[in-house]
Amino acid sequence: MSSSATILVLNGPNLSRLDLREKSHYGDLDYPQLHKFIEDSARELELSVDIRQSDDEATLIGWLHEAADKSQPVIFNPAAFTHYSVGIRDAAVLLRAPLIEVHLSNPLAREEFRHTSMISGVASGTIAGFKQDSYRLALIAMKELRRKTQ
Ligand code: DQA
Repeated sequence: MSSSATILVLNGPNLSRLDLREKSHYGDLDYPQLHKFIEDSARELELSVDIRQSDDEATLIGWLHEAADKSQPVIFNPAAFTHYSVGIRDAAVLLRAPLIEVHLSNPLAREEFRHTSMISGVASGTIAGFKQDSYRLALIAMKELRRKTQ
């Protein structure tokens, strides 16, 4: 991973509507606030980020292809696609730089259908359950991976 590589931060379906979702799972921030929190955290850690959100599986797969072509590191909250998208998993396998899976909530402490992740097995690691801080912890982990591989 090159030291200047911009980290692609991808967010899946319904995360743009955090304002309407259960605060007990997802925290108090709406999506624009979460976006700003990730940007501010990256700035503090002297990391460059490109933050994107889509409800569309094909768009997320296209962004993963782009990251694979550019050997770009990825922090990814696939949201509901985590639990069933083989297409997203197959695209994640193509990545050549680290992939960190993040979740605001802790899916393992929730309904059983959330206990399966298609992504965990192809990610460098997973951070879940710390609400917006999951992203900050993922940025710290990415920075540490970068330091070790330089
Ligand atoms: C989520 C957890 C998923 O189970 C859920 O479908 C989401 C958000 C999280 O960030 O906690 O949409 O990925």
